[in-house]
Amino acid sequence: MTEVVSDRVCVAGATGYLGARVVAEFRARGAPVVAIVKDHSEAATLARLSELGATIAFVDAALLEPYTAALVDVAVAVTCLASSNVQVDPRSDFWAIDRDANIRFGLAAISASAWQIVLVATFEGRESRHFTEFSDAKEQAVDAIGDACRSAGIAFTVIRPTAYFSDLTNRAFDSVRKNGRYRVIGAGSHRINPVHGDDVAAFLAESVNDPGRADREHKVGGPDVFTFREIGELAADVLDKRETLQITRVSLLSLRATAMIAGAAGIVSRKSRRFAAVLRWMIYAGTHDAVAQSCGRRRLSDEFMAKADALSPSSRCDRSLGGIGQRIR
Ligand SMILES: NC(=O)c1ccc[n+]([C@@H]2O[C@H](COP(=O)([O-])OP(=O)(O)OC[C@H]3O[C@@H](n4cnc5c(N)ncnc54)[C@H](OP(=O)(O)O)[C@@H]3O)[C@@H](O)[C@H]2O)c1
Repeated sequence: MTEVVSDRVCVAGATGYLGARVVAEFRARGAPVVAIVKDHSEAATLARLSELGATIAFVDAALLEPYTAALVDVAVAVTCLASSNVQVDPRSDFWAIDRDANIRFGLAAISASAWQIVLVATFEGRESRHFTEFSDAKEQAVDAIGDACRSAGIAFTVIRPTAYFSDLTNRAFDSVRKNGRYRVIGAGSHRINPVHGDDVAAFLAESVNDPGRADREHKVGGPDVFTFREIGELAADVLDKRETLQITRVSLLSLRATAMIAGAAGIVSRKSRRFAAVLRWMIYAGTHDAVAQSCGRRRLSDEFMAKADALSPSSRCDRSLGGIGQRIR
């Protein structure tokens, strides 16, 4: 049964894929929620947050606007802030948002006397931070907020999802649907168990009041493990394009060479340095398994079938999809 939460929760990044779901999850549990959004966010997104009963606070982190008003009387401060990985503006790239905006939010929450901070980080961040600044930026936030929480005696919980259906997997689905093609890094044989945002949001909300889970790090994934190739094959099966599916290998050698050239150019250009960091992250993520405990019930095959149905109920194939992906029990 869902536990009712009465403490006030503040969610930064409330318009994002995960943040919006975290707001919905805490509201479903009865918690008063303050949702932080940038002032130029879409009207429809703001309307959805208002319909959930969240109080909206406008803070544009790129403009260094303060979080103080949003954090008044807040018990739990959750950050799902992230820059888009194509963002090149130095005020809103991953150094500015994933690192600096997160740190400011964490320190402001401590000053506001929150008793728990939850930060959503990446699955491979700790291991890949020495390989790419794209990961290191968020890990610096994990370190800084963690240190500050320990000094203040506040619980600090870190959630590290493998990959959301929205991201990795939707791109696979859309690429197979539009072009009949799917690209993998190297052989595409590394394994991952992607997870639905609703399942991560539920896990996060449950962790807040669970002494066994709060003040810890959690790597979380979904119920099925796939190789990267199998994700494309699953999309093709759902769309009845398996026979014609073209899986293209992106050569690791060429990715590494491009990252090296961009890295060298990065000595004089922040944009190139950012590009090199994102490429190195792609190489890392595409060449390492990302399999975590399953916190989810929602299955990728159902997500793909729902997407196919939403496009046109006749576009999906009803064959059994049981052969792809290995179930975590
Ligand atoms: N995507 C994945 O597969 C994945 C996997 C593992 C971990 N994660 C982590 O999970 C967390 C949430 O990811 P997500 O996919 O939900 O991210 P997302 O959809 O890109 O959402 C990011 C949020 O940050 C907000 N934001 C960005 N710049 C801002 C600014 N200047 N001021 C205020 N808000 C700003 C965005 O607002 P706007 O909507 O207005 O831009 C949005 O609400 C991140 O920490 C991410 O690193 C993601």
